[in-house]
Amino acid sequence: MPFTLCMMAPGFHSSASFLVLLGCLFIVPESGAQRPVVTVTNSGNVQVFRTDTANLSCSFVSSVPLPVYTVSWYKLNNDGSQEAPFLVYVTNSPVQEDANRLAELGLTGRVSFLPDLTSITIQETAQPDTGTFRCEVDPIFPGGGVAASVDTNLTVVCP
Ligand SMILES: *[C@@H]1O[C@H](CO)[C@@H](O)[C@H](O)[C@H]1NC(C)=O
Ligand SMILES: *[C@@H]1O[C@H](CO)[C@@H](O)[C@H](O)[C@H]1NC(C)=O
Repeated sequence: MPFTLCMMAPGFHSSASFLVLLGCLFIVPESGAQRPVVTVTNSGNVQVFRTDTANLSCSFVSSVPLPVYTVSWYKLNNDGSQEAPFLVYVTNSPVQEDANRLAELGLTGRVSFLPDLTSITIQETAQPDTGTFRCEVDPIFPGGGVAASVDTNLTVVCP
């Protein structure tokens, strides 16, 4: 809308259009500043003994208040490729589990979000849990942002 006004402003022929242009100059940078820039962090890689609980931390900050976002957890394939997330949280909605993906990963019934709704906990770890987990945060509202993620390598060792 502000852009449309800018394009239609005939120039500096009258003080009125000059004012329109001035208004655009102020409005456009302001809406640019509303665009969320999300930074996602963890507290490093995790190593646990087999059967122990592994907490994989994830937290994020946003450049502007972010009332609506999605947190998705993936486990990467050995070649680094990414498939469907096994756990998804969308602000103010129930946690969504992908039963098929959880079964493929052998994680059924052993993984859930921690109370912060970004970190996860894996119970009764087994050696096949070893691998790279990805926490991705996708800003939904305000819009215009891009998803950001952090990878955590989990290593399950024998006692
Ligand atoms: C995992 O996080 C939960 C909740 O914060 C905590 O109670 C538990 O002690 C943690 N477990 C490990 C192994 O860090
Ligand atoms: C996790 O492991 C992968 C595969 O071994 C490696 O390429 C990657 O750099 C590691 N990532 C971190 C955060 O240590």
